[in-house]
Amino acid sequence: MSEPVQTPQTFTPRIFSGIQPSGGLTLGNYLGALKRFVEKQDEGIETIYCLVDMHAITVWQDPEKLRQQTREGAAAFIAAGIDPARSILFNQSQVTAHAELGWIFNCVARMGWMSRMTQFKDKAGKNSENVSLGLFAYPALMAADILAYKATHVPVGEDQKQHLELTRDIAIKFNNDYKVNFFPVTEPVIEGAATRVMSLRDGSKKMSKSDPSDQSRINLTDDADAISAKIRKAKTDPEPLPETLDGLKDRPEARNLVNIYAALSGQSAESVVAEFAGAQFGTFKPRLAELAVAKLSPITTEMNRLMRDPAEIDRILGRGAEQAEAIARPILNDVYDIVGMIRSRQV
Ligand code: AMP
Ligand code: TRP
Repeated sequence: MSEPVQTPQTFTPRIFSGIQPSGGLTLGNYLGALKRFVEKQDEGIETIYCLVDMHAITVWQDPEKLRQQTREGAAAFIAAGIDPARSILFNQSQVTAHAELGWIFNCVARMGWMSRMTQFKDKAGKNSENVSLGLFAYPALMAADILAYKATHVPVGEDQKQHLELTRDIAIKFNNDYKVNFFPVTEPVIEGAATRVMSLRDGSKKMSKSDPSDQSRINLTDDADAISAKIRKAKTDPEPLPETLDGLKDRPEARNLVNIYAALSGQSAESVVAEFAGAQFGTFKPRLAELAVAKLSPITTEMNRLMRDPAEIDRILGRGAEQAEAIARPILNDVYDIVGMIRSRQV
């Protein structure tokens, strides 16, 4: 007889998501993640957001830059609309429950599962003997990030789908192995017009903070001139925009710009195409640039203002970490108990 499948509905709705402070944030992070984190907060669901510094060090990070990028990431969250009074915002390493549960999940996850992770294969490339062990184990730590809070929903971009499937597998295996109904089987939330923003130089590659070409991405720190220039120079094809979305099927660069316009303006890609049907990129690109500057400039300005007071950012992260710890610690205590570990130390 099989156990009934655990659905997130049996757990209190709680959102968790994270972003790596491994570089400056991009328009991809904003549209695929940050903007949607704010929407979830504003819907009134309990939201926990994390700068995952322990994930960042799976590849080399200069310590001073890591500190700077973590603060900059926090400033970006707040500037984009995350309110530390309504969401919990912190950096991962301040809450040790992540590392602790990560270890337990290293013992739940199977080598075969981990070897199938496409992001690991992409990042390791031909160099798999030389990458860190942490890079291989990374998705188990990501499962721990989520399940240390028994989070039921995780908003992410398209590229994280496989990692979230692994999180579900880990939750199910833990529940089965220990014969408990303890962890929720988390739902990915991959929604919106821009779940995968592509490089401005190559429509087959994801826009990424680690791309060597700065022209490939819009950074949240770019000023209006840089944003406009990058959009003007973005790779496209010579055709005008079609009447319907179908006409963009084999035109990845054009499709990407339409998706970006849609996500920034809060429209569907269909309605953007309907509005610009027959327009040349000479017309569409300046309109896109204008929209991007209008939406991103206030965020950049606010980020710059917040970055002038790094001590205040650190205080916000510290308070967030205390709140996060208060949720995760009792869950970890239960986990130790379920696994059979003695907890007799007097504190
Ligand atoms: P990362 O920068 O890899 O830590 O990603 C943080 C979040 O941003 C994750 O939810 C990603 O899925 C999302 N994300 C990163 N790059 C993109 C992109 N090009 N398009 C859409 N979402 C993205
Ligand atoms: N792996 C995610 C990325 O690279 C970042 C991440 C770490 C994350 N832990 C998480 C995202 C937990 C969502 C939930 O984008």
